[in-house]
Amino acid sequence: MSTPDLLPDSLLDLVPVMPVVVLHRVEDAVPVARALVAGGLPAIELTLRTPVALDALAAIAAEVPEIVVGAGTVVSAGQAKEAHDAGARFLVSPGATPTLLAAMTDTGLPFLPGVATVSEALAVLETGLTEMKFFPAEASGGAAFLSSVAAPVPAARFCPTGGITPANAARYLALPNVGCVGGSWLTPGDLVAARDWDAIAGLAREAAALAG
Ligand code: 3PG
Repeated sequence: MSTPDLLPDSLLDLVPVMPVVVLHRVEDAVPVARALVAGGLPAIELTLRTPVALDALAAIAAEVPEIVVGAGTVVSAGQAKEAHDAGARFLVSPGATPTLLAAMTDTGLPFLPGVATVSEALAVLETGLTEMKFFPAEASGGAAFLSSVAAPVPAARFCPTGGITPANAARYLALPNVGCVGGSWLTPGDLVAARDWDAIAGLAREAAALAG
């Protein structure tokens, strides 16, 4: 079932904290998605880092219509197409080569290309896109970097990801050029392995409250 009504004009307005999720078992996909929705975060960036990722994405797309499921860690043109065909509603990449930008554009899906420098952000803006992932955020200058680029590059809006925690997320979210942050802390591997869906819903609830 599709959920066109759940997708806002801007991917950065979906949720204040985008859950970046790594799954090793297909059967965890639907309960993880439902736990995030229960905690108030109806979006998931499912990373294409495991052999089950595309099947997990397809399961969520088919069985959890109340969440917007996207594919993360898209690093090749082939993955962009595979993610689209599996039911992804959006794509996220850690970097942005011309080939990858073209492939993600070809899917027709909204996407966040990854950037880590001013020149990379300018290159994305030159393609007509204004929204991007800032990755790896903490290792690339963190909130201080984004604060510094807000005046010279006002057209760009970011989803910083990489090293974001409950302790530093609010600092990013307070910046004018940050729409949301992304992080893997909502679905720690040990809680997923233990099938502790209530704990994951609790982490999502705390993260959703960070938006203030
Ligand atoms: C990503 O793919 O966006 C990052 O691996 C997430 O970074 P984190 O694990 O530091 O939250």
